[in-house]
Amino acid sequence: MLNRVNRVAVIGTGFVGSSYAFALLNQGITEELVLIDVNKDKAEGDAMDLNHGLPFAPSRTKIWFGSYADCQNADVVVITAGANQKPGETRLDLVEKNTRIFKGIVEEIMESGFDGIIIVATNPVDILTYAVWKFSGLPKNRVIGSGTILDTARFRFLLGDYFDVDTRNVHAYIIGEHGDTELPVWSHADIAGTTISEWTKNKQGYHQKDLDEIFVNVRDAAYQIIERKGATFYGIAMGLVRLTKAILENENSVLTVSAYLEGEYGHNDIFIGVPAVVNRNGIREVVQLDLSKGEQEKFNHSVQVLKKTMEPVLF
Ligand code: 2OP
Repeated sequence: MLNRVNRVAVIGTGFVGSSYAFALLNQGITEELVLIDVNKDKAEGDAMDLNHGLPFAPSRTKIWFGSYADCQNADVVVITAGANQKPGETRLDLVEKNTRIFKGIVEEIMESGFDGIIIVATNPVDILTYAVWKFSGLPKNRVIGSGTILDTARFRFLLGDYFDVDTRNVHAYIIGEHGDTELPVWSHADIAGTTISEWTKNKQGYHQKDLDEIFVNVRDAAYQIIERKGATFYGIAMGLVRLTKAILENENSVLTVSAYLEGEYGHNDIFIGVPAVVNRNGIREVVQLDLSKGEQEKFNHSVQVLKKTMEPVLF
């Protein structure tokens, strides 16, 4: 008997969705990729364009533009649809509009008979992940938000650059809201198993103010990019591919995603960015970091801001 092939469905082929499809294809992660968008011409044009790149791809992927019915056999559905931030807007400003759009999208996905894992990338991602969980009725482990996966990547990139070390040897997390109240977990930041203070001991040219500035640049990165080019898409697209791979290849990888908390970090009934073990079943478990007092306070604040924002919209 032939093994069933992996199918990924992308809802929304705007900047993020189409960059994700491109990155997925280039890494040869899935056998089937279906593109779905209200703007059918855009989705169809993207499918045609991507198909023309297949001779240069590492493996074969069947790509087509489809409808929600194609979600039925999808292993992973990635939702990137919805409005994005305009210059000066925060992610939280998008909550009402995108929750409304998401209700319809999730209904259509579930009507297809879909029974896989949903990844949410649209902002405000933590709140929309909660909304998808509510609207879909799927178990909590099978709804995953991109959370702070990108913020953590930005953090590791900037730290690697500052210390002149391969970013893959930097272990450091951004947790909390994917947005203005996120926080760096300095108490558990390390380079190749050494703390930052050990690493910098007896070395010249490193200053606390530089580290503070690195975090501010991480937190405000989206504003800086949106001001310059109107949107962010390559970084998040690659983060979403990383997450898809962890799922389809059953990696048990630790990624900072928006996961449902049931007592972890002292909170309940919220999706928020935390490190979590991701595999073929979605989120296996949340990794509980032993936060410093100040970090825990900042995390609590982030939870409060998310809860306050989502309450009038979702309850
Ligand atoms: C980002 O952080 C806008 O959430 C998007 O790039």
